[in-house]
Amino acid sequence: MADTIHMTETIQIAKAQPASPCTIVIFGASGDLAKRKLIPALYNLRAFGQEVSPQEFSILGFARRPMTVEDFRDSARVAAARFSRLELDQKGWHDFAANLDYLSGLDEPDGFRRLKARLEQIEAARGLPPNRIYYLSVPPEAVPECVERLDSAGLIAKPGAANFSRVVVEKPIGTDLESALEVEGLLRRYFDESQIFRIDHYLGKETVQNLFVLRFANTIFERMWGARNVEHVQITVAEGEGVGSRAMYYDPAGALRDMVQNHMMQLLALIAMEPPISLDSDAIRDAKINVLRALRPLPPGGARDLVVRGRYGAATVDGEPVPGYLQEHGIPASSRTETFVAFKAAIDNWRWAGVPFYLRTGKRMPSRGSIIYIQFKDVPRILFNREKNIPPNALTIRIQPDEGFSFEVLAKQPGLDIAIRPVRMNLRYDSEFAGPSPEAYERLLLDVMSADHTLFVSAQFVEKSWEFVQSILDQWRDDSTIPMHEYPAGSKGPEAADKLIQADGREWLDP
Ligand code: BG6
Repeated sequence: MADTIHMTETIQIAKAQPASPCTIVIFGASGDLAKRKLIPALYNLRAFGQEVSPQEFSILGFARRPMTVEDFRDSARVAAARFSRLELDQKGWHDFAANLDYLSGLDEPDGFRRLKARLEQIEAARGLPPNRIYYLSVPPEAVPECVERLDSAGLIAKPGAANFSRVVVEKPIGTDLESALEVEGLLRRYFDESQIFRIDHYLGKETVQNLFVLRFANTIFERMWGARNVEHVQITVAEGEGVGSRAMYYDPAGALRDMVQNHMMQLLALIAMEPPISLDSDAIRDAKINVLRALRPLPPGGARDLVVRGRYGAATVDGEPVPGYLQEHGIPASSRTETFVAFKAAIDNWRWAGVPFYLRTGKRMPSRGSIIYIQFKDVPRILFNREKNIPPNALTIRIQPDEGFSFEVLAKQPGLDIAIRPVRMNLRYDSEFAGPSPEAYERLLLDVMSADHTLFVSAQFVEKSWEFVQSILDQWRDDSTIPMHEYPAGSKGPEAADKLIQADGREWLDP
């Protein structure tokens, strides 16, 4: 019989695995992702993940722009000071920076030959084995060329070799279904599936990982989880920021490719999946893909009736003028890119038959806030609910920024009258658990180093989620009368999104 555990004890299920020494090559090292996320995450891992991060690892920035190693280290320090969740300490940074190198020439004919020579030099100088991780932080259309050139430079070790070569690909994989399949085919031509890590940083967020624990380590929720008890589900991922300096990437993408095809679909899968048969990464990935298999395909006309797209317009936010999307730096005046998407989905399986799922995401909404809201069915029309319309129970999972969840129940208001009112049972991560959570990229980079695929996206998931997204893109392309709704920057999105849910007698819950 299993040991009895007391409510105050922490139960260790799996320990983070110590990772092997390696060199991480960041392709596109002068880009936004490297500065905001990768360098700070690697610094934090190095400085604070002592038990699990490899004793030795080296980082080689590889990009087009010529830059000295010193300049690269300087710009990395500025980025880490600004974006690291933990304060930079002098000594820690000094030790970390000693492992940072830079090489330009990503786009030059002999760039990959020089990459090979530089890797060998670094490994010899630092006594590192030739374990290599290629982090492709480059635009989706540049991925195939990078992979082919890695291969022709002899930089990809076979899967069973004594030393590993792994590749990390960022979302979005491809720019549509067809190109995603091409990229996938190419990745698999040169790498074994065990060497491929498709990253979706939402899967590395603590609260997203907790969805899994919440559902499958508690009896109370899982028994309620499905059409018998759930009235509807909402997922909102709102951002306060606009497109910022990412016009070049964002304008050809838009919210559907940037957020829905990956992050939103992952959240949907985690909420709707069946319990996996084990905690193995394959079992979890199988359970998730089944959700997308059951996702109802968009019917003809669905992009008009079930999907709302929008674009933020200029407005005054907190007393400051904020430009509209079309006035942002680098956005062409002819752009037809959406910065907001809302849609209604259905999952046609026994668990979820008849339960609508409403999803929305947008830039320049009132603030950054992501929540999953699960509304349970009405209380039967008896006793307290006979004459009054009392609100149903609801579970709100706050993914960010105030991580936690709350359960809304009805309670008696103290007093001589019989009066009831909704109250919240609320858990806040920051007050319940001491210490800051690791950033998503810390967790995921460590998982690449220790070859754990659990929090990475499978090839089938990429394909299935693109299929759904592609059906919306096709209808947008074929029917130019489908409106692009303008919403003022700083607002909750276009009114049409409110109407979408109100038509079913429901309201969005704002984060
Ligand atoms: C990225 C998108 O994947 O996720 C960005 O490309 C978006 O456009 C970002 O801003 C949101 O991530 P987070 O972790 O801030 O919610």
